[in-house]
Amino acid sequence: MSQKTVLITGGTSGIGRACALAFGRAGYAVAVTGRDDARLAAAAQALAAAGIAHLAVQADVGDEAAAARAVEATVARFGRLDVLLNNAGISMRARFQDADLAVIKRLMQTNFFGTVFTTKFALPHLLASKGSIVGISSIAGYRGLPGRTGYSASKFAMNGFLEALRTELLPQGVHVLTAAPGFTASNIRAGALAADGAAQGESPRDEGAMMSSEAVADAILRAVAARRRTLVLTAQGKLTVFLNKWLPGLTDRLVLQHFQKEEAGEMQ
Ligand SMILES: NC(=O)c1ccc[n+]([C@@H]2O[C@H](COP(=O)([O-])OP(=O)(O)OC[C@H]3O[C@@H](n4cnc5c(N)ncnc54)[C@H](OP(=O)(O)O)[C@@H]3O)[C@@H](O)[C@H]2O)c1
Repeated sequence: MSQKTVLITGGTSGIGRACALAFGRAGYAVAVTGRDDARLAAAAQALAAAGIAHLAVQADVGDEAAAARAVEATVARFGRLDVLLNNAGISMRARFQDADLAVIKRLMQTNFFGTVFTTKFALPHLLASKGSIVGISSIAGYRGLPGRTGYSASKFAMNGFLEALRTELLPQGVHVLTAAPGFTASNIRAGALAADGAAQGESPRDEGAMMSSEAVADAILRAVAARRRTLVLTAQGKLTVFLNKWLPGLTDRLVLQHFQKEEAGEMQ
């Protein structure tokens, strides 16, 4: 029997990198993708140091041909695919009135179409293994967040796609998990696109006060093992989803206050 295999898009930083190590330590062979060669080499080195069978593929998830190449390379190397973790993602920080439309397009191309492309090419292999498709969504996929219109739209789109796909695949035994982390310490805020499409360069929040990427990865690993449908993380994230469902007007005002503090640099 060949080794169970996971493909993690954006597996070179933050949640993806932590998942690569967590799944690897749990016995999976691990393939990771990313755009940056140096980050890929560092991720491969960390996996090798942990004694994990691995493959690092340079691929932009929003490029259809590259997404196909990443899946093919994984199956060529390990002979099977059991878990696809659609994790690669970028964020933004700009009011819609100020943001270039190119910012919104890049968010959709990476977060939404990246998930769609990779899932399309991976699906035949996941049907064969009766495996798992995971989408790393966000609390922003349940509750739109100001300053992140494109990000929220991309995560709502992911949630709808994954829910429809889960239902389609029920008779075929493929498991679909929508995972929504809350604020998690990573590089996502430093890399978030400002109004002109340039990375904002630093996080406006205290990353040390957030859930760690390692804790998120452990929760995702357990949710895959239990074949759960959804995973919503952090007390603040759970409260936001709950309040938005039952008290949406109040939640508008609370979320706006939170955003105004963040814009004023008062958010720790
Ligand atoms: N951190 C949070 O607070 C938080 C909360 C909720 C949800 N999430 C979600 O969690 C996922 C991972 O984010 P993170 O926080 O771990 O961020 P991160 O530290 O910035 O890591 C993002 C990863 O995605 C890769 N990536 C970005 N664009 C890509 C592309 N076009 N093609 C392939 N790889 C790409 C990055 O590598 P390269 O840049 O080298 O390509 C990197 O490996 C995202 O989907 C994010 O929306 C994060």
